[in-house]
Amino acid sequence: MDDNRVIIFDTTLRDGEQSPGISLNTVEKLEIAHQLARLGVDVIEAGFPIASPGDFDAVRSIAREVHGPVIAGLARAHSADIERAAEAVRDAERPRIHTFISTSDIHIKHQLQSTREDVLGQARAAVAHAKSFVDDVEFSPMDATRADVEFTAEVLVAALEEGATTINIPDTVGYAMPIEYAAFLTRLYELVPGLRDIVLSVHCHDDLGLAVANSFAGLQAGARQVECAINGIGERAGNASLEEIVMLLHTRAEDVGMECGVVTREIARTSRLVSRLTGYVVQPNKAIVGRNAFAHESGIHQDGVLKERSTYEIMAAGTVGVDDANSLVLGKHSGRHALKAALEELGFTVSGQALNTAFKRFKDIADKKKQVTAMDLEALVTDELRSDVASYSLEWFDVEASSRRPPHATVAIRTPDGEVVQGNFTGDGPVDAIFRAINAAVRREARLRDFHIGSVTAGQDALGEASVVLEVAGQSAAGQGVSTDIIEAAALAYVRALSNAERKVAVAAEAAEGDREPELTPTP
Ligand code: KIV
Ligand code: ZN
Repeated sequence: MDDNRVIIFDTTLRDGEQSPGISLNTVEKLEIAHQLARLGVDVIEAGFPIASPGDFDAVRSIAREVHGPVIAGLARAHSADIERAAEAVRDAERPRIHTFISTSDIHIKHQLQSTREDVLGQARAAVAHAKSFVDDVEFSPMDATRADVEFTAEVLVAALEEGATTINIPDTVGYAMPIEYAAFLTRLYELVPGLRDIVLSVHCHDDLGLAVANSFAGLQAGARQVECAINGIGERAGNASLEEIVMLLHTRAEDVGMECGVVTREIARTSRLVSRLTGYVVQPNKAIVGRNAFAHESGIHQDGVLKERSTYEIMAAGTVGVDDANSLVLGKHSGRHALKAALEELGFTVSGQALNTAFKRFKDIADKKKQVTAMDLEALVTDELRSDVASYSLEWFDVEASSRRPPHATVAIRTPDGEVVQGNFTGDGPVDAIFRAINAAVRREARLRDFHIGSVTAGQDALGEASVVLEVAGQSAAGQGVSTDIIEAAALAYVRALSNAERKVAVAAEAAEGDREPELTPTP
C-alpha cells in the first residue's frame, strides 16, 4: 500500500456504541454499517461479539451483508472472546479480530489483578489464537500511554512474533499530549523495529479535547491507521472524530501529504444518520458537521464570503455534502416512483410493503409540509427502521394543554403480546403528562434522564424530532421519534426508549441467571 495512505478504522459501532444511553439494535447497526461502507471507510469495527447475543448478532449480520470494508470484531485476550469474535466475523469478505489487554501497571494491578509476566503470556496466546481463525489480527495494549514503554514494547514483540498485522496504541483515558503521544510511538519504533513492517494504528480518547490532535501527531510519527468514530462518539468524552481527521487530511493535503479513501460528500449524511439513531445530538458549533460549521453570522464575515468565499471559508460546505440535504425536493403530487427514486438516491433500497408504508408517511407529511427534502426523507426512513423493532408501539393519544389547568394526557399502547393498554396522567406540562401516561399504561416506573426536541429542517412546517433517554430498573436506553406534531414525536421517542430499556433489562436478567457471560465494558 502507498506509504501515505491512511487507513480509516471506524469504531462508531463498537467504542461509539459504548456511550451512555446508546442502544442500537441489529437493524440500526446494519443501516449505519451500510452507510459507513458508502462513506468509504477501510475498516468497520462492528462490535464486541461476546458482550451479548445482540452484539454477536449485529456483528455477524454486518459481516454477512456489508461489502467493501474489513469487518472487525473486538475480543479481550481470552479464548472464549476470541472464538466468539471469530464466529461473528467468519462470513465477512475480509474478517479481522481485534484483541487487547492492558499494559499499564495501574490496569494490571487494579483491574486485571495480575502481573506483567502474565499479561505478556496472555497477549502472546491471544494473538496466536486469533491467528488460528483469521489472517488479519489487530492487537492493542490498552492504556498504553500510561504504561511503561519498555514493557509495552516487549508485549508488542510477542504480538508480532505471533503474527499480528496491525498494532494499535490506545490513549485509553485521553491523558496524552500530542508531543508525548508522538514521542511514545517514536520510542516504540526504536524498541520494536518490526513495527515498520506492519500497520501502526492510533486510538485516542477525547477527555482533554486532544483526541484528534493526538491522532494526527501519531500519524506524523508514522502511524497509518486512525481509529475514530462519527461525530466523535465513544466512551466518556468520546473518540477522535472521523470527520475532523478526514477533513484535516483533505483540507491540508498539500502540507500533510497523506490521504485516505473516504468519500467526503457522504460525511454530513453519515453524521445525521448516526446522530438520529444514537440520539446523540451534534452540538451546533461542532467542527465539520455542526449546524453552524459553515454558517457566517458576523456582517464582516458575510460580506467577505459574498465577495470571495476563501476570505473566511477553508472548506466548501459541498465537500462534506451539507448542501446535498436540500437539493432533492418532493411535493404532495410526487408519486410512489419518485419517492422510490429519491430514497435510492439517498442510499435506501425500499420496495414492497416497506415502500407502501414509506409512501403513506410521505403523503401524510407532504400534506402538511410544502416541500419534502432529503433531510425529511432521511428522518422518515430512520423513523420507520425504529418502529420495526420497538416492542411497544403508540396506538393513539389525547393531550389537553392549557395555561389555566394542569395538562392531562391519555394514551393507548400496544404491548409486545398485542394487547392494547391505556393510561392517563395529569402532569406538569403536556410532554410530562404523556410520558407519565405511558408509564401508567405499561405499568413501568421509567425515569426520564434526558429529553431533546428539535426540527429536522428550518421553517414553520418542519418535522419535529425528539430524543429521549430513560432508565428502567437500572438500565438506561435511548429512543427517537419524528412527526409533524412534536408531542407525537416525543411520545414515539419515549415508547421506543422504553422498548430498548426493557430489552436491556431482559438481557441483564438473563446474565444474572448465569446463562452467559455478563455484559462487558471493555474500555474504562
Ligand atoms: O480505548 C481503548 O483502549 C479501547 C481498546 C479496546 C482498543 O477501546
Ligand atoms: Zn477506546
